[in-house]
Amino acid sequence: MKKRIFSGVQPSGNLHIGNYLGAIKNWVELQEQYDSIFCVVDLHAITVPQDPKVLRQKTIELAKLYLAAGIDPQKSKIFVQSHVPEHAELAWILNTITKVSELERMTQFKDKAGKQNREGVGMGLMDYPVLMAADIILYDTNLVPVGEDQTQHVEITRTLAERFNQKFGETFVVPEAFVTREGKRIMGLDDPTKKMSKSADSEYSYIALTDSEELIRKKIKKAVTDSGSEITYSEDRPAIRNLMNIYSLLGDQSISDIAAKYAGKGYADFKSDLADIVVESLRPFQERFNKLSDEQVLEILKDGAKRVRPLAAQKLSEVKQKLGFVV
Ligand code: AMP
Ligand code: TRP
Repeated sequence: MKKRIFSGVQPSGNLHIGNYLGAIKNWVELQEQYDSIFCVVDLHAITVPQDPKVLRQKTIELAKLYLAAGIDPQKSKIFVQSHVPEHAELAWILNTITKVSELERMTQFKDKAGKQNREGVGMGLMDYPVLMAADIILYDTNLVPVGEDQTQHVEITRTLAERFNQKFGETFVVPEAFVTREGKRIMGLDDPTKKMSKSADSEYSYIALTDSEELIRKKIKKAVTDSGSEITYSEDRPAIRNLMNIYSLLGDQSISDIAAKYAGKGYADFKSDLADIVVESLRPFQERFNKLSDEQVLEILKDGAKRVRPLAAQKLSEVKQKLGFVV
């Protein structure tokens, strides 16, 4: 039996090369070896206010991005979270074995809640990791490919799965996070101390997968660099190190090869080549993206939901029996 992987992204903001290198690129490789399920997590997206029209459009767009990046609906199942109501139902049940203090400790919650006044923080934002745990354990997931920022949520998923198993008997597979080393944290182009983020204030922080060639070149030109002018890879040169990581991952060249190639050259040469690499690696992706129609994508998503729903329903029914619900 193949092992199962499950992952998801929220349909909000613009998907950028950090999401691609930290998450989706791995998915494309993993789908060859694993029984793969990829989700567009709209229930998670509404933990912060969303414009309904935009949410609808972003949901389709994100699925299109999955497909354009190389997720193959023949090999993998892709679907929209809200199409499978078992996710929300299991989340409720898991809430009853989750401690408030465990959720208050979550870094992402503290970050997101910290930006608002405490009185106004929504319950959904706090409960976000419990829904994520439900997503994962509904499907007997073995591995969860995500960027480093999500590993704490996979950790609490493990805790909840183990806790349920202990209280009610062996029910859930306890999953593990799967994080690749290099792509795990792509930093902002305008500030290499912060991760590249789709909710960044400035669009010069990220390169969106759908950015035009002109915009990509402009963003790379504007990217901050470190003092000095050498292309060397080290801890104390975070800006150039980040650009070298992007170069290495998208251009498929080792860091030491890149350092050798630019020895004695300045930032201008390096940046101009980096822009070529980013533009060229996104081109085939953008061509595929533009060819997909919304109707086609919606069809694929509905089919995906039909294929995963029986798995979710079976697991939830097992859970209900264990809890003593009359079924
Ligand atoms: P998010 O954009 O936060 O919904 O994240 C979607 C996926 O991309 C998650 O697996 C994240 O861990 C990953 N991710 C987001 N930002 C980055 C980044 N700057 N570098 C690497 N991975 C990232
Ligand atoms: N919280 C994840 C993120 O922001 C998205 C997500 C929701 C997810 N459910 C998941 C990722 C289940 C992996 C598995 O990136």
